[in-house]
Parts: sequence; structure tokens; C-alpha cells
Amino acid sequence: MWLLSLALVLLLQLSAAQNVSYDHRSLILNGKRRILLSGSVHYPRATPEMWPGIIQKAKEGGLDVIETYVFWDRHEPSPGQYYFEGRYDLVKFVKLVQQAGLLMNLRIGPYVCAEWNLGGFPIWLRDIPHIVFRTDNEPFKKYMQSFLTKIVNMMKEENLFASQGGPIILAQVENEYGNVDSHYGEAGVRYINWAAEMAQAQNTGVPWIMCAQSKVPEYIIDTCNGMYCDGWNPILYKKPTMWTESYTGWFTYYGWPIPHRPVEDIAFAVARFFERGGSFHNYYMYFGGTNFGRTSGGPYVASSYDYDAPLDEYGMQHLPKWGHLKDLHETLKLGEEVILSSEGQHSELGPNQEAHVYSYGNGCVAFLANVDSMNDTVVEFRNVSYSLPAWSVSILLDCKTVAFNSAKVKSQSAVVSMSPSKSTLSWTSFDEPVGISGSSFKAKQLLEQMETTKDTSDYLWYTTSVEATGTGSTWLSIESMRDVVHIFVNGQFQSSWHTSKSVLYNSVEAPITLAPGSNTIALLSATVGLQNFGAFIETWSAGLSGSLILKGLPGGDQNLSKQEWTYQVGLKGEDLKLFTVEGSRSVNWSAVSTEKPLTWYMTEFDAPPGDDPVALDLASMGKGQAWVNGQSIGRYWPAYKAADSVCPESCDYRGSYDQNKCLTGCGQSSQRWYHVPRSWMKPRGNLLVLFEETGGDPSSIDFVTRSTNVICARVYESHPASVKLWCPGEKQVISQIRFASLGNPEGSCGSFKEGSCHTNDLSNTVEKACVGQRSCSLAPDFTISACPGVREKFLAVEALCSS
Ligand code: GAL
Repeated sequence: MWLLSLALVLLLQLSAAQNVSYDHRSLILNGKRRILLSGSVHYPRATPEMWPGIIQKAKEGGLDVIETYVFWDRHEPSPGQYYFEGRYDLVKFVKLVQQAGLLMNLRIGPYVCAEWNLGGFPIWLRDIPHIVFRTDNEPFKKYMQSFLTKIVNMMKEENLFASQGGPIILAQVENEYGNVDSHYGEAGVRYINWAAEMAQAQNTGVPWIMCAQSKVPEYIIDTCNGMYCDGWNPILYKKPTMWTESYTGWFTYYGWPIPHRPVEDIAFAVARFFERGGSFHNYYMYFGGTNFGRTSGGPYVASSYDYDAPLDEYGMQHLPKWGHLKDLHETLKLGEEVILSSEGQHSELGPNQEAHVYSYGNGCVAFLANVDSMNDTVVEFRNVSYSLPAWSVSILLDCKTVAFNSAKVKSQSAVVSMSPSKSTLSWTSFDEPVGISGSSFKAKQLLEQMETTKDTSDYLWYTTSVEATGTGSTWLSIESMRDVVHIFVNGQFQSSWHTSKSVLYNSVEAPITLAPGSNTIALLSATVGLQNFGAFIETWSAGLSGSLILKGLPGGDQNLSKQEWTYQVGLKGEDLKLFTVEGSRSVNWSAVSTEKPLTWYMTEFDAPPGDDPVALDLASMGKGQAWVNGQSIGRYWPAYKAADSVCPESCDYRGSYDQNKCLTGCGQSSQRWYHVPRSWMKPRGNLLVLFEETGGDPSSIDFVTRSTNVICARVYESHPASVKLWCPGEKQVISQIRFASLGNPEGSCGSFKEGSCHTNDLSNTVEKACVGQRSCSLAPDFTISACPGVREKFLAVEALCSS
């Protein structure tokens, strides 16, 4: 009996096993070539409660595969001690992907970059004697192999590789080594070969990939990362053309405006990739989420990792991005068999226009591209004229009818609102002592910060005493600092300094006021995420270094860098865990004082009613960290305003994109709203604690809820297929049609107006079809309005969604 059930289990597993192989055209799953659409979702950047919804929306958006990195630093917080709970429950995440019927690309790395603290390396790895990261170095290879093997074995034990019937069809070792390999010379070549062999020897039964790294052994698939990857090919012909990082936007830095990438350009890039022979494509990010706690790298990477992705930071559909890409995915899937069963036939249609035609059996799929970044044009293809907007690709599923054009967004758009909950919070505060207040130690030099704190805190106090003889204007000259330093003399705040994403290390000339006699200088140095990118990141330093000179004294300059310094790692409030319920009870809180540096603030609040995602509006604050019921929602820094003057008036999707092209929010806080996951709150009596470094006004802090209540669609006469309207919230229905006009309406979603030509009686028709429904289709009869002289008639509809 026992043997029989074992045999049955084995049989079931084997029958579910997927064979993953490949040829030059694509990955082959169970003998079938596949177009695979994939999206990056990093599990710790959401909560386990959010995972099912995100995965479901990825599936509805037309994805087949979820890609994630694996975050070594959090999984192995000290050597041999592992952690896989809560947001780090990798097995649970992979199983949820499987339950949704999706596949997985597991990018183990274990170097991940990813705007993650130290690129995902555990901080203790720096302390291993003689270690050099990412090269042919025995200690490094030992720890890397041990972690990668641990993850592979965990997946194997749970039968999660496709070869075992699981969802994982691919795994990645290393990450973009091609960007740094020149720094490591021959040892780098030996390392990459070792990493490949070590991974291959794990026997997962699925292919290993390496991204942005062309010198790979024959059994590894090399893949492309970039804004555009059309025309890119793997080194060997027998490998499929795969794109592992196709950027849907870019991440936000504190002190920098917010990058956006127009969906017309993303769709263009993706369509061009498939046009020119690609078969696996991954959006980086499909859902970006949040850098909770102190996980963000950088330095200066914001807590929001929204990325302008198709699913926003809160897990909501970002429209029309999500929908337009869904339309593209549906079109590509309809052409899958024809596209993958043949080689594209290329022909020129004009100076900047070309066609690629795939034919197989009776099927024919054509891609018509206009890569001119300025001019719309009309091309002749198989004796038919097609108008091609600038910088666009049309996909013709039968080589005749346009099923999709990357520049014509038919999918609905929306207005997202952040509604203040107008909560009246009553705050108390606690002063963080200036300088040494707990355990400390001395050294006759300026210590490197990471070496000293082991990254247990962002903060390190450097304190020393100086004798001032006479008065005059004095200042501290610090040769090199990074990332932030707050300067105090005799407990009095003097000034704050920070470097920036473009100048990582800088010098400081800080005026200070000394009293005659002995003075205590206390410098609070803070890191804002450890370096995640670049060669030899284990050697990059933080904190104060070089000479530190007191200038302006009548007796001449004093070099303080070699005198005795007293150090304290972290803050008193961190030590007392003031952000937890228990810790907060261990001190006496007093009435608030605003605009005061080094202040802890505490309040109790009730969760905003409803199910909409919640954020904390910290616009009135300076810089610090925030916790809800003991969970860190991240670093905040609204006081660091984005550089002015680099934001364009409007963003033109046409032409090559880079992350500095379509910025918004110049002159404003890079991040004002901080996501508070619903699952971290109880209905009543939640604890909110902030640590404020520079000074802010907590009385203006409020909770906001995020919702999409207004949705809009346009249906054009030239592509009169029906257009769908839907409410993005699960519990929402269309409650009202606010606007419906066929003709030449003006304005945009949220502010439509009737144009010179319009039909008034449409609202009723649209209401009948839509009100009370979660979704409805609009297929207007364009003959009902003549509109002489109007170039192209269209129907614009604006509807309200309510729950
Ligand atoms: C890539 C890297 C990713 C991420 C991305 C920028 O170079 O592989 O991990 O850092 O850049 O978001």
C-alpha cells in the first residue's frame, strides 16, 4: 500500500513535470515553442497579503511568468542562520505563483543589484577574511555556493522546479557581470566560468541564464537587459533571444524628480523585440512596490519603488499602461504559433520603415514598423496603404488587418486620487539625546561607518572635544563625507549636510559657534541605503573620512581627525525600540515641539475605513524613519526637494527613451506618500512612531487612501473595434456616466468637454450598457453624427466607479 502511494505520488509529479529546453527561436516547454511574457515582482517589496492580488493582476494583464530576485542579505542575516518568514517567505510566494497557473524565473544571483541594500549581499560578508566579492576568490565562492545551493535545495524539496512539476522554468546566476567584468580581468573570467559550472552542477533540470554578460559557457543562456533589446542576439545561434530587464520606467532617488516611461514607447520597444526575433520578454518592474525598512540601496533610493510600473506601488492597475500592454500581449499570443514557427522575412517599406513577416501554414503575421521619431507616414504593404504613426509598430495578425498599434492606446485611462482622511492625530514627542547616551567606545581616528555599525543602524555618532581660545568665526572642514551629517556643538544644532546621487562623496565647510573653553562637537552621520552597484562594492566606504579640521581659531587650524573620538552606534530610541508598543512605554513622552531636530514622535490612530490602500502623507516632515505597529514603512525624506528645471513641459513618447527624459515633480519632494500596508494595521488603536532628524511639523501629517474612481475611454472611428470600460477595484461597479460625447470632444480624462460637434443623446445609451456593471463594452455607431470637417470622430466617455 505504502509503495503504491509512493509510486502514485512519483507518477503524479512526473506527469506534471515540464520539460524545459530551447532552440534558436524560443524556450520550448513540453515540446512546444512559446512566446513568454514575464514580469518582475520582488516578494519583499509587498506583503504576503498583497501577493495573491498582484499575481492575479499580472495574470489578467497577460503574463505567463513572474520573475523575482532572491535577497541573500535578509535570508541569511548571519552566516548559517536563515530567515524565510513573512515578506521573506520565498516558498510561499513561488507556490502562489504556481497556484495562479503562472511560471517563474528565479534570479538567485546572489548578487542582485536591484536598488537593494548592498546589492543583496549580507553585511557580514564584508568581514570574511581576505574576501573579494564577485571574482575568483575562495572565501567569496564558498559563501556564494553555499547560499545558492541552499535556495536550490529548498526549491527542490518543495518540488518547485518545472522538472519536478513546479513553476520554475529558469534560474539566474550572477547579475549583469558584463557591466563590471573589465575590472576583474582574468580572475573575473575564471569566476564566471566557475559560477556557471557551479550552477549547472545543481541539477535543477531547467536552464540557467546570465543577463548582460556575453562571455558565458555554451550551456548558459545569455540574455539582454536594456531600454530596447531589438536587434540584440545571444552569442550562439542555438540560443533563444531573451530580454530579462525591459524597463517600464525607472526608480526614484531622493532629491530627484520622478521618472516616467510612456506606455506607447514601452509597447513600441516590446513589439520591436518580437518583430525582430525575440521570444521571452520580462518587464522590470511589472510591480515595483516599496522598499520597506532599510532595504533600499543606492544610496538615496527612495522608499517608493513604484517604478512607473503597470501595477503601481500599491498593487493597483496603472492605467492606461496595464491595459495597453495587456492588449499587446493578447495580440502577440494570437500570433504565437505563426511567429515562432518561422523566421521573419525582412523588407524595407521606406527610409525609416520596415516590415517583418512571419508565415506558417495558412497563417501570416506582419509587423510594420515606423522608427522615424518625428514623422507619421503612410506605407504600402502588399498593395494596401497603412498609416503608421511615428515611432510605432503595427501588428497585422493576418498580414492584412491591424490588430494592434503601439502608439494608439485604446485601453481605458483613469484618474487616481489620494484622499486625505482628515484624521486629527494627537502627537507626543521624545528628544533623542545629542551625542553619546549609551554604550560607546573610543578611537584616535575617524572610523569607517559600515565597519563600525555593521549596518545595524543608519546612524553613527562621532563626538570629540575641542578647546576654544578666544572667539571669531570658526568652521569645520570635513574632507569627505557620505551620505548625511548633522552637526552639533555643545548640544546645539549647527547645520545638516548631505551628498547627492550624482556626487556620492563630498567635502563640507560648516560654520560652527564655539564657546570659550571646552566644547563638545557631535556629528551624527547617517547612511541612506548602501551602495548596490559597481565593481568592488565591498570596498566602498561610508561616513566621515580624510582630514577633519577646525578652522578660524586665533591659534591656527586644529586637525581633529587624529585626536580622540568617542563613538556610538545607533540611537538611544533605537536601542529602546521606541517604535514598538512595549518600547514606546519605556519612556515619558511630552508635548510636541515642532521643527526640532532629533525628535521621536508618537501617536495612536484608527485605520482609515474601507479597503482602499493607505499611505501616510509626510509632506510636512524633514528626514527620518517611520514605523506602524513596530513595522518600518521605510526612510522618509520629503525635505530633500527634487532638482528644478529638468522636467519637460510634456513628455513626447517618440524617440529613444532614457530615465531622464520624462521626469515630473521638479522642485517638489521626491516622495511625499509612504505606503502603510492594510495588513499592518488593526481597525483601532495603532501605534505610529517617527524619528525625525532635521525637524518637521507632525501636526500636518495625515493618512490618505488611494482609489481610482474616474475611468475614461476613447473609441476612434478609424479603429472601431469595441472598447472596454472596467472598474479596477474588485468591489467597484460603474455608478455614473459623467460624460459621453461622440464627435470631437476636448480635454482629457477627468476634464472632458464637448467639442464643436457632438451628439447629446449618448449618455443614456452608455448608461444603459454600463451603470451597475463592473465592466461594459462600447461599440458606438459613428454614422449617427455627421460632423462635417472633423478629421476623425471619436467617442469619449468618463465614468465613475464606486464600491
Ligand atoms: C539593472 C540591474 C537591476 C536594477 C536595474 C535598475 O542594471 O540588473 O537589478 O538595478 O538595473 O533598476
